[in-house]
Amino acid sequence: MKIIITGVFSLVFVVFLASQTTTVQAHSEKHETNPRHVAMTTLGKNMKAISKAVKSGNVTPDLQQKAGEIHKISNGLVALFPKGKELSESRAKPEIWSDSAGFDSANNNFIKAASDLANAVKSGDVAASKLALKATGKTCGGCHKAYRLPKK
Ligand code: HEC
Repeated sequence: MKIIITGVFSLVFVVFLASQTTTVQAHSEKHETNPRHVAMTTLGKNMKAISKAVKSGNVTPDLQQKAGEIHKISNGLVALFPKGKELSESRAKPEIWSDSAGFDSANNNFIKAASDLANAVKSGDVAASKLALKATGKTCGGCHKAYRLPKK
């Protein structure tokens, strides 16, 4: 009986060790492939594309996908900041977790603005898209100012 119990315990311990290894791997995950980095970089690229279109006065239907993607990312953004899983090169401020209500609120502003932007781009209305883009950009900056560390 004792042997069986010890056996089970060892097995549990091995599984535990294996899960620890996975966590360590997640920590050393490459910056380039980190989902948070990918999401934020996509936001930057799509905002730039829409900005270019707005400036040239030509809000084309292909931008709907980009605006839609911004909105989709906004809905999942908070989940990209799991507690206790920080990357060494991250610029995430500890306040994201110590003031999670504030972080949520900053992201809710972004979700709302991104939804308006998606609708404006869908309408093809240049003036409305321009305004919505500006409002969305403000929510990016608002969150970065409060929750992103300056460049190292
Ligand atoms: C609710 C907060 C929040 C919102 C909204 C937000 N960001 Fe970020 N963003 C962050 C934080 C925090 C970081 C730093 C993450 C890190 O280094 O781990 C970041 C990083 C970035 C980076 C650098 C990515 C990298 O890893 O090199 C870019 C680019 C970026 N954001 C663009 C945007 C754009 C564009 C928007 C709006 C369309 C936006 N972000 C909206 C919080 C936010």
